[in-house]
Amino acid sequence: MTDWSQQMRDRSVVETQYSTTDRLERRISIWSPGSDGIDPTALLRDSIVELHPRHAVEIGCGTGTLAAQVCRALPSCDYLATDLSPAMVATTAAHGVLAEVSDAASLPVPDGWADVVVAAWMLYHVPDLHAVLREVTRVLAPDGTFLAVTNGDTHLATLLADVGVGPAQTQFSSENGLAALEEHFQTVTRRDVHTLATFPDHETATAYLATIDPDMAVALPVFEGARQDAGYTTIFTARYPSGLPG
Ligand SMILES: C[S@@+](CC[C@H](N)C(=O)[O-])C[C@H]1O[C@@H](n2cnc3c(N)ncnc32)[C@H](O)[C@@H]1O
Repeated sequence: MTDWSQQMRDRSVVETQYSTTDRLERRISIWSPGSDGIDPTALLRDSIVELHPRHAVEIGCGTGTLAAQVCRALPSCDYLATDLSPAMVATTAAHGVLAEVSDAASLPVPDGWADVVVAAWMLYHVPDLHAVLREVTRVLAPDGTFLAVTNGDTHLATLLADVGVGPAQTQFSSENGLAALEEHFQTVTRRDVHTLATFPDHETATAYLATIDPDMAVALPVFEGARQDAGYTTIFTARYPSGLPG
């Protein structure tokens, strides 16, 4: 069985995976809201905008879609988007967003600078989760808010089962994210969101799987017509870094 947790944190795998934007863009393209009609990225954007941050840092910004939307909604916000991948940073900067190559464990801002820190679908990739969470509390203002998004163990489990792969258990998931955050923050809340992956045909599904692992693509049994598979995402909101008055 694939050791998801280990593979997702392997630096050379991560660097190769995000050396260009095409794999991430292909994966994002198949997602839509589930039965509750809620788009987790839109919910995240609205949550940031409602906080009216003066300074915000995004970690692992990917192609910069979220950053561009927030900057449009809050033109006076100093929003710094960061990512390990130069290709992701270049794509984000092309949206007119201030973007820098940076490891999540060493963010290029002073202590207490950020009213909001965002890490969307990226904490399962970092080699040392707690070092990154300490870095988040360093850059966050005492009354700041950390928003962390991730997927659950059952995310896309039906598709993975069809290629002989078990649940995508990672080091920061819907199941274990709360406990990890509670080691660093006094208040942590969660919002769970159901999503839906739609594959119009077998070719689209194999192309999706190939962005993760070519062996998975080969293993997908042929199917006729379209298929849909459920996704499961959680948005955590963390406040009051431990050690500060709550
Ligand atoms: C699954 S993508 C998510 C991108 C974006 N947040 C989104 O929601 O579309 C993970 C991103 O995290 C970045 N990343 C992985 N490890 C990182 C690290 N240690 N420091 C900073 N960024 C990292 C990758 O380069 C990639 O752009």
